[in-house]
Amino acid sequence: MGQAWTFAKREVSPDQLGRVLAELAGPDLLGINLTLPLKQAAFQFVSQVTPEAEQIGAINCLRWTGQHWEGHNSDATGWLDSFEEEIGLPLQGRKTLVIGAGGACRAILAALRRQQIGPLAIFNRTPERSQSLLRPGDLSLRLDDFASHLEADCLVVQTTSVGMWPHTESSPVEWPQPLPPGVIACDLVYNPSPTRWLAQADQGGARTLDGCGMLVHQAVRAIEWWSGLRPDPACMLRALKDSL
Ligand SMILES: NC(=O)c1ccc[n+]([C@@H]2O[C@H](COP(=O)([O-])OP(=O)(O)OC[C@H]3O[C@@H](n4cnc5c(N)ncnc54)[C@H](OP(=O)(O)O)[C@@H]3O)[C@@H](O)[C@H]2O)c1
Repeated sequence: MGQAWTFAKREVSPDQLGRVLAELAGPDLLGINLTLPLKQAAFQFVSQVTPEAEQIGAINCLRWTGQHWEGHNSDATGWLDSFEEEIGLPLQGRKTLVIGAGGACRAILAALRRQQIGPLAIFNRTPERSQSLLRPGDLSLRLDDFASHLEADCLVVQTTSVGMWPHTESSPVEWPQPLPPGVIACDLVYNPSPTRWLAQADQGGARTLDGCGMLVHQAVRAIEWWSGLRPDPACMLRALKDSL
């Protein structure tokens, strides 16, 4: 981007976050990205949150206004940008199956609800964890129920960490054989890309989306929020793929 910026990693535990933020606040700081387990802990240090962070219940980026910290979440918009760029099919009214019920799932649900998807079912190893994510009409089901709910033209979003390196032989659920036509399969995992689960969907004829685009686009949105400048997502995606 031609800017004299640097981006550094710090490992910070929730009990260290207040001290680290006090250390980093100042005119030289453009912004901070947060990942687990800091996405919830950050709420106690911000004076203002954007509607996106409020809705998802998690903060993945912070900026210093000169007086206080402001929290935002770019994961939901980042995933939608990635979906639009790589799949580009309408989501409105589409039957949707979401696998997982953790932090990433909350962002995906916010994104999907913004697009007014059709009937929604959430499949999680611990079904009780899905309960708080449900809205009237949504279903909470066991992972074993997945195959029987898959229909033609379904959107499936895999939000668990299953299949992530180094456990690359694992899959959260098995696909039925043959796959119904028109399935769109999305995995949030970006390492490896594709996961075993996503590769099987591709072999069965589904349109597929890995987690790399979301990772890039949430960062693009964060940089825009901090600076007002938009980096080139294609260049960032190439750098990400080269680094994996
Ligand atoms: N591409 C991106 O930009 C992006 C952004 C955010 C997250 N992610 C990825 O999304 C994944 C989940 O992140 P998260 O923040 O949501 O984590 P999290 O809050 O810890 O949630 C983990 C989820 O995975 C499920 N799970 C874990 N191990 C399992 C197993 N062995 N069998 C079945 N289910 C299992 C958990 O089920 P239980 O409820 O039963 O424990 C839960 O639903 C990670 O791989 C992360 O890298 C990617």
